Amino acid sequence: MQNQQNQIETIRMPSIIRETIKIFRQRGKTVGLVPTMGALHNGHLALVRRSSIENDATIVSIFVNPLQFGANEDFAKYPRNISDDKDKLKEIGNVVLFMPDDMLMYPKGYSTYIDIGEIGTRLCGKYRPGHFNGVATVVCKLLNLIKPDRAYFGLKDYQQIVIIKKLVNELNMDIDILTAQTVREYDGLAMSSRNAYLNSEERKDAQLIYKALKTVETQLLDKSITPADVQSLMESTLRTGSHVKEIQYASIFDHETLIDISTSNVNNYKGKKVLLAAAVIIGSTRLIDNLLIEL
Ligand code: PAJ
Repeated sequence: MQNQQNQIETIRMPSIIRETIKIFRQRGKTVGLVPTMGALHNGHLALVRRSSIENDATIVSIFVNPLQFGANEDFAKYPRNISDDKDKLKEIGNVVLFMPDDMLMYPKGYSTYIDIGEIGTRLCGKYRPGHFNGVATVVCKLLNLIKPDRAYFGLKDYQQIVIIKKLVNELNMDIDILTAQTVREYDGLAMSSRNAYLNSEERKDAQLIYKALKTVETQLLDKSITPADVQSLMESTLRTGSHVKEIQYASIFDHETLIDISTSNVNNYKGKKVLLAAAVIIGSTRLIDNLLIEL
């Protein structure tokens, strides 16, 4: 739904998005949802394009969710480029932008939160306490408000997908959660709104994350290493970058439970999917990436 100036329809009020969806439903339209925090790049846009193909209408939400940022994290400086975002979205058909204010999502006295449990304390959750409960709360609110047929999420945030699928399943929501491959820069760096924080030297080191993942993948598949070697090989690749300040995790995990399997018997995982994943601080920017592979 775009007006004559080819501007994207933008809705701020939850009550109005609800009315808009009601009208889509009355017309028998299917609805896709792509939740984002804005500063849109090709990773986000791939999800929006897919939703636009698979549904009659697509709602893209842009909301920098304060609940998922820790006290010392980058909520205040998180990139916000609304006018660029709108320009990018208006190239794609049948998109409505939902951009609520903090006070509309969490009005004074707001007190209902999702606790996703232990899965939210693994991997990134260990370094970002409360992050996944914040993600689960906002995604639950968006899914309840919009009640899409399908919602789209990127595999770049693999743990987020595991958590959202669990949320939707355990809260009996009738919504398909669809996932899309990670979109990368020319050198393999996963696209991320946070890449904008990197200076040129840090940007060079950032490509080591994908390099470390691919090196380990190749050597696991040709059996020159076992899961027990993954951590040290990834770390030695990452440590070649002088701007790599901290490796929070770089290992091999069960793709469902997200438990580290580097000390498990490799035979238990023959022919099964496993997750290679890393979280690294480059300069002062925290970046994550992963590869899902079959052993
Ligand atoms: P954000 O980081 O803006 O990402 C929005 C969606 O885009 C997520 O599903 C994310 O996995 C996907 N995405 C990001 N980079 C990608 C890439 N390089 N390739 C493919 N997909 C990519 O993730 C969030 O926002 C928030 O946690 C949110 C789900 C909106 C809840 O606040």
